[in-house]
Amino acid sequence: MNDQILARAAALAGTSCYVFDIDALKERVAFLRGHLPEGVLLCYAVKANPFLAGEIAPVIDRLEICSPGELAICERLGCDPGRYVISGVYKAPDVMEGQFSRGGSETYTVESLSQYRLLKGLALAAKKPMRLLIRLTSGSQFGLSKPDAEAVLTDALAQPLLSVAGLQFYSGTQKTSAKRLAKELAELDAYLKELKERCAYEAEELEYGPGLPASYFQGETFDEEAHLLALSEALDAMSFSGRIILELGRGIAAGCGSYLTRVVDEKIIDGQRFAITDGGIHQLAYYGQFMAMKHPYIHLLTPHPGAEEEEWTIFGSLCTVNDILVKRIPLAGLSAGDVLVFERAGAYCVTEGMSLFLSRDLPAVVLCSGGTLRLARKNTPTDGLNTPLGAPFSADHRY
Ligand SMILES: Cc1ncc(COP(=O)(O)O)c(C=O)c1O
Repeated sequence: MNDQILARAAALAGTSCYVFDIDALKERVAFLRGHLPEGVLLCYAVKANPFLAGEIAPVIDRLEICSPGELAICERLGCDPGRYVISGVYKAPDVMEGQFSRGGSETYTVESLSQYRLLKGLALAAKKPMRLLIRLTSGSQFGLSKPDAEAVLTDALAQPLLSVAGLQFYSGTQKTSAKRLAKELAELDAYLKELKERCAYEAEELEYGPGLPASYFQGETFDEEAHLLALSEALDAMSFSGRIILELGRGIAAGCGSYLTRVVDEKIIDGQRFAITDGGIHQLAYYGQFMAMKHPYIHLLTPHPGAEEEEWTIFGSLCTVNDILVKRIPLAGLSAGDVLVFERAGAYCVTEGMSLFLSRDLPAVVLCSGGTLRLARKNTPTDGLNTPLGAPFSADHRY
């Protein structure tokens, strides 16, 4: 996606806005497939960017869905429920019941004993088969301990309506250590073997989140191809012969997004150049950013040829001294009216920020494919959400 297209998006949608490059997204999926062992499947974690779910669905094997909202989005986009992995530490019983009664082809993760009771109850009540993945904990609140996983497995194996497809494991994001991936995979491999011996259970699949990192900051050196090679070697070294599915968010989506924000004011205080933008930290989050010290990949949408570089600190327009997007970044000829492009903003930025703070608008979202722009969300005011309802509380207000 070139800057002319971004400029068109900014003109049509206004700033601040996000522009997601669907061609780049699909190329990224193809790149990952090309750098992983044959037969390894890919699952897109919708939380990384729900605006991409419908676009990525035709080129991805699964969609990991973690909330009723994500489920509703995927339904609305007409995604195939047979590819859903319904995950999440809280599975609202009414939502699970609604989904299972409508469908049944989806897979559910089991993350606690009570989730297992809930899911089993739904299958038994509907007399319909249900497909489960048992999520193993990595020590966090997510997933089951091994003894609980085995208790679930033993019970489920005795239930004709339940099929346990295998294990799911996700231990964190932005994992740069190939050694750590190899260790986790070796441990999972050993555990799958133990389950075979102890529980006479042979898993069909392992869904594993490698937490593939995105390189967000200038000057950082991360050799992604070497990392993917090491991951592939660790996968190939497993004795497990079932399906492997890699569950990914950031590693798929980060690179396809740009966040555009306009400089609306500038000033010099104690010799330092400050630029105020119409965006802010409620709309842009780079994992690993520290007090705005690191320099993400940014550029001016319309450069000023011949102008000298000066150091700028870029602020958003929230009422907090913390609303600094980046400190002391060299930019040539920056002035009010310029649009700054923050690159690699395709994952999490659009949903993770504290977007209701100051009742500022939610930025527009633009999808770009083959040079054609599509408005996926208008610039949306939030003041209505932050205005108290006038009437006394009644049942009508619940939803
Ligand atoms: C269960 C699960 N799978 C996948 C992901 C995606 O992680 P990442 O963006 O690091 O690839 C997450 C992120 O929180 C997750 O919780």
